[in-house]
Amino acid sequence: MCSASGVLRRYLVGVPDPRPIPIPASIDSSRVPEHIALVMDGNGRWAQQRGLPRTDGHSAGEEALVDAAYGALAVGVKHLTVYAFSTENWRRPLDEVRFLMGFNESLLRRRRDELNEVGVRITFSGRRDRRVPRSVLRNMDEAAELTKNNRVMTLNLAFNYGGRAEIIDAVKSLVEDGIPAHKITEKAIASRLYHPEIPDPDLVIRPSGEYRISNFLLWEIAYSELVFNDILWPDYRREDLYAAIEEYQGRQRRFGGVES
Ligand code: FPP
Repeated sequence: MCSASGVLRRYLVGVPDPRPIPIPASIDSSRVPEHIALVMDGNGRWAQQRGLPRTDGHSAGEEALVDAAYGALAVGVKHLTVYAFSTENWRRPLDEVRFLMGFNESLLRRRRDELNEVGVRITFSGRRDRRVPRSVLRNMDEAAELTKNNRVMTLNLAFNYGGRAEIIDAVKSLVEDGIPAHKITEKAIASRLYHPEIPDPDLVIRPSGEYRISNFLLWEIAYSELVFNDILWPDYRREDLYAAIEEYQGRQRRFGGVES
C-alpha cells in the first residue's frame, strides 16, 4: 500500500501524462494495491469483430497498455505485471507469433525512453530460450538496463512466461545449487522466482470475458484478489483499472486467517 500523492509529484516532472483524468474520489489512496497483474486478452476477438486481422488487435492493444500504465502510475501502484506472451502462445499461427515478437520488440524501442522519463523500471519475467529472437532479447536487455535505477513503478512484462515453467526454473536452480530437500521451503522457492524482489500481486485483472488464469503467476497469486470483466483488451482504459481497484478495495483479505 502507498500514497499516490508523492508518486504523482515525482512523475509529473517527467513526460506529461498524455490523458490526465481525475482519479475517482471513491478510491482510497491509502489502500491502493501495491502490485497489479493484468492479462492483456481479447485483442484477436476485438480485431475479428471489426473484420481486421488478429494482429491489428495486438497493435490496438498498445494504447490500452500505455493508458493502463499511466493510470497505475497516477494512482500510486508500485508494480504492474502484464502478460505479453505465454510459453503456450508459441502454439498460435506462425504469422501471429512472428508479428508478436516484432511487435513487442518495437514497442520496447518506441516506449522505453518515455517510460524511463516517468520513472518506470522495465523488467521481464519469462524464459530466455532459443525460440526468442536475439534482437528481441537485446532490446529487452537494453530497456532493463536503461531503466534499472527507476523506482516510481515497475512495469514487469511477462514474456515467454509460464507459471509452471517459473516454478520448474526455481526448483531447478535450488537443485543445481545443491540445496538439500529439507531446505526446500516456501521461502527458498520464492527466492528463486524470476523477480523475488517484487511482492506477490494484490490484484489480478483478466478482461475479455474469460474466467481463467492461463498459467499466469501461479505461485505468486496464491492470495491475490481476482477481478474479471468483459472488456476486450484494446478497449481497456485506466477507468477500468480504477474500477477494478475499487472492487479490490471492497474485498476482505484474510490470507487463510479470520477477521480480527
Ligand atoms: C492469456 O491467454 C493471455 C496472454 C498470454 C496475453 C497475450 C497477449 C498478447 C499476445 C498481446 C500482447 C499485447 C500487447 C499490447 C503487448 P491465452 O490466450 O494465452 O490463454 P487461453 O488459451 O487460456 O485463453
